[in-house]
Amino acid sequence: MKIALITAAALTALAIAAAPGVAAASEHDGDRAAGQRVYNTQCRACHTLNQGGRSGVGPNLWGFFGRAAGAVDGFRYSAAMREKATGGLVWNDETVRAYLANPKSVVPSGSMSFVGLRNPKQIIDVIAYLRHETAPH
Ligand code: HEC
Repeated sequence: MKIALITAAALTALAIAAAPGVAAASEHDGDRAAGQRVYNTQCRACHTLNQGGRSGVGPNLWGFFGRAAGAVDGFRYSAAMREKATGGLVWNDETVRAYLANPKSVVPSGSMSFVGLRNPKQIIDVIAYLRHETAPH
Protein backbone atom coordinates (compact mmCIF):
# COMPACT_ATOMS: atom_id res chain seq x y z
CA MET A 1 0.00 0.00 0.00
CA LYS A 2 2.70 2.40 1.05
CA ILE A 3 4.74 1.51 -2.00
CA ALA A 4 1.75 2.05 -4.23
CA LEU A 5 1.21 5.50 -2.74
CA ILE A 6 4.82 6.46 -3.18
CA THR A 7 4.76 5.21 -6.74
CA ALA A 8 1.63 7.20 -7.45
CA ALA A 9 3.17 10.32 -5.98
CA ALA A 10 6.34 9.84 -7.99
CA LEU A 11 4.36 9.32 -11.17
CA THR A 12 2.34 12.47 -10.52
CA ALA A 13 5.51 14.46 -9.97
CA LEU A 14 6.93 13.08 -13.18
CA ALA A 15 3.77 13.88 -15.08
CA ILE A 16 3.87 17.49 -13.86
CA ALA A 17 7.52 17.87 -14.72
CA ALA A 18 7.02 16.35 -18.14
CA ALA A 19 3.81 18.14 -19.08
CA PRO A 20 4.80 20.30 -22.04
CA GLY A 21 1.62 22.35 -21.73
CA VAL A 22 2.71 23.89 -18.45
CA ALA A 23 5.66 25.85 -19.76
CA ALA A 24 4.06 26.41 -23.15
CA ALA A 25 0.91 27.89 -21.64
CA SER A 26 2.71 30.84 -20.08
CA GLU A 27 4.63 31.42 -23.29
CA HIS A 28 1.38 31.60 -25.23
CA ASP A 29 -0.33 33.90 -22.77
CA GLY A 30 -0.05 37.17 -24.59
CA ASP A 31 -1.20 40.44 -23.08
CA ARG A 32 -4.46 41.25 -24.87
CA ALA A 33 -4.46 44.93 -23.93
CA ALA A 34 -0.98 45.35 -25.35
CA GLY A 35 -2.09 43.29 -28.35
CA GLN A 36 -4.97 45.67 -28.98
CA ARG A 37 -2.52 48.56 -29.18
CA VAL A 38 -0.47 46.61 -31.70
CA TYR A 39 -3.59 45.88 -33.76
CA ASN A 40 -4.74 49.51 -33.61
CA THR A 41 -1.43 50.88 -34.78
CA GLN A 42 -0.26 48.14 -37.17
CA CYS A 43 -3.25 46.23 -38.55
CA ARG A 44 -6.49 48.18 -38.22
CA ALA A 45 -5.89 50.33 -41.27
CA CYS A 46 -6.32 47.21 -43.41
CA HIS A 47 -8.26 44.64 -41.36
CA THR A 48 -11.55 44.39 -39.49
CA LEU A 49 -12.04 41.63 -36.89
CA ASN A 50 -15.76 41.49 -36.18
CA GLN A 51 -18.16 38.86 -37.52
CA GLY A 52 -19.52 40.03 -40.84
CA GLY A 53 -17.05 42.93 -40.87
CA ARG A 54 -16.12 44.34 -44.24
CA SER A 55 -12.88 43.56 -45.92
CA GLY A 56 -10.76 46.57 -46.76
CA VAL A 57 -7.27 46.55 -48.16
CA GLY A 58 -6.96 43.24 -46.27
CA PRO A 59 -9.58 40.55 -45.64
CA ASN A 60 -11.89 40.59 -42.60
CA LEU A 61 -10.26 38.32 -40.00
CA TRP A 62 -13.32 36.87 -38.21
CA GLY A 63 -12.78 33.14 -37.64
CA PHE A 64 -9.41 32.98 -39.40
CA PHE A 65 -7.64 31.12 -36.60
CA GLY A 66 -7.58 27.39 -37.32
CA ARG A 67 -8.91 27.97 -40.83
CA ALA A 68 -7.36 27.58 -44.25
CA ALA A 69 -5.59 30.67 -45.56
CA GLY A 70 -7.30 32.75 -48.22
CA ALA A 71 -10.84 31.74 -47.27
CA VAL A 72 -12.79 35.02 -47.08
CA ASP A 73 -15.47 35.03 -49.77
CA GLY A 74 -15.23 37.87 -52.20
CA PHE A 75 -11.81 39.08 -51.10
CA ARG A 76 -9.24 39.28 -53.88
CA TYR A 77 -6.25 37.43 -52.47
CA SER A 78 -2.94 37.43 -54.26
CA ALA A 79 -2.20 34.50 -56.55
CA ALA A 80 0.57 33.60 -54.10
CA MET A 81 -1.87 33.34 -51.19
CA ARG A 82 -4.33 31.28 -53.23
CA GLU A 83 -1.52 28.94 -54.16
CA LYS A 84 -0.48 28.56 -50.50
CA ALA A 85 -4.09 27.89 -49.55
CA THR A 86 -4.33 25.15 -52.17
CA GLY A 87 -1.07 23.79 -50.80
CA GLY A 88 -2.67 23.42 -47.37
CA LEU A 89 -1.60 26.55 -45.47
CA VAL A 90 -3.70 26.79 -42.30
CA TRP A 91 -3.56 29.65 -39.80
CA ASN A 92 -2.39 28.34 -36.45
CA ASP A 93 -0.08 29.69 -33.75
CA GLU A 94 3.02 28.77 -35.68
CA THR A 95 2.02 29.99 -39.13
CA VAL A 96 0.47 33.23 -37.84
CA ARG A 97 3.60 33.99 -35.83
CA ALA A 98 5.80 33.42 -38.83
CA TYR A 99 3.49 35.46 -41.08
CA LEU A 100 3.39 38.42 -38.70
CA ALA A 101 7.14 38.34 -38.15
CA ASN A 102 7.73 38.43 -41.88
CA PRO A 103 4.78 38.01 -44.27
CA LYS A 104 7.06 37.27 -47.21
CA SER A 105 8.62 34.32 -45.39
CA VAL A 106 5.25 32.54 -45.45
CA VAL A 107 3.72 33.94 -48.64
CA PRO A 108 6.52 35.18 -50.87
CA SER A 109 5.05 37.72 -53.31
CA GLY A 110 1.83 37.90 -51.32
CA SER A 111 0.01 41.22 -51.29
CA MET A 112 0.11 42.12 -47.59
CA SER A 113 2.25 45.27 -47.61
CA PHE A 114 3.49 44.92 -44.09
CA VAL A 115 7.12 44.67 -43.07
CA GLY A 116 6.46 42.44 -40.09
CA LEU A 117 6.66 42.82 -36.34
CA ARG A 118 10.24 42.71 -35.05
CA ASN A 119 9.36 42.30 -31.40
CA PRO A 120 8.34 38.71 -30.51
CA LYS A 121 6.33 39.98 -27.54
CA GLN A 122 4.22 42.14 -29.84
CA ILE A 123 3.51 39.07 -31.96
CA ILE A 124 2.40 37.00 -28.97
CA ASP A 125 0.31 39.90 -27.65
CA VAL A 126 -1.43 40.65 -30.93
CA ILE A 127 -2.17 36.94 -31.46
CA ALA A 128 -3.81 36.78 -28.00
CA TYR A 129 -5.92 39.81 -28.94
CA LEU A 130 -6.82 38.46 -32.39
CA ARG A 131 -7.76 35.02 -31.03
CA HIS A 132 -10.15 36.69 -28.62
CA GLU A 133 -11.65 39.21 -31.01
CA THR A 134 -12.12 36.98 -34.03
CA ALA A 135 -13.98 34.13 -32.29
CA PRO A 136 -17.25 33.93 -30.36
CA HIS A 137 -16.76 34.67 -26.64
C1 HEC B 1 -1.30 47.65 -45.71
C2 HEC B 1 -2.39 46.78 -45.40
C3 HEC B 1 -2.17 45.67 -44.39
C4 HEC B 1 -1.66 45.76 -43.11
C5 HEC B 1 -1.08 46.98 -42.42
C6 HEC B 1 -1.79 44.44 -42.54
N1 HEC B 1 -2.36 43.58 -43.43
FE1 HEC B 1 -2.81 41.63 -43.12
N2 HEC B 1 -3.34 41.42 -45.10
C7 HEC B 1 -3.36 42.44 -46.02
C8 HEC B 1 -3.63 41.89 -47.33
C9 HEC B 1 -3.74 42.67 -48.64
C10 HEC B 1 -3.78 40.49 -47.15
C11 HEC B 1 -4.00 39.43 -48.23
C12 HEC B 1 -2.60 38.99 -48.67
C13 HEC B 1 -2.55 38.16 -49.93
O1 HEC B 1 -3.58 37.88 -50.54
O2 HEC B 1 -1.40 37.78 -50.30
C14 HEC B 1 -3.59 40.24 -45.72
C15 HEC B 1 -3.70 38.99 -45.14
C16 HEC B 1 -3.65 38.76 -43.76
C17 HEC B 1 -3.93 37.50 -43.13
C18 HEC B 1 -4.38 36.22 -43.83
C19 HEC B 1 -5.90 36.23 -43.88
C20 HEC B 1 -6.55 35.13 -44.66
O3 HEC B 1 -7.79 35.21 -44.86
O4 HEC B 1 -5.87 34.19 -45.09
C21 HEC B 1 -3.76 37.68 -41.78
C22 HEC B 1 -3.95 36.65 -40.70
C23 HEC B 1 -3.37 39.06 -41.60
N3 HEC B 1 -3.30 39.68 -42.81
C24 HEC B 1 -3.10 39.63 -40.37
C25 HEC B 1 -2.57 40.92 -40.20
C26 HEC B 1 -2.17 41.46 -38.92
C27 HEC B 1 -2.32 40.75 -37.58
C28 HEC B 1 -1.66 42.71 -39.17
C29 HEC B 1 -1.01 43.65 -38.18
C30 HEC B 1 0.09 43.14 -37.40
C31 HEC B 1 -1.78 42.94 -40.59
N4 HEC B 1 -2.33 41.83 -41.18
C32 HEC B 1 -1.41 44.12 -41.24
C33 HEC B 1 -3.14 43.78 -45.75
C34 HEC B 1 -2.59 44.29 -44.59
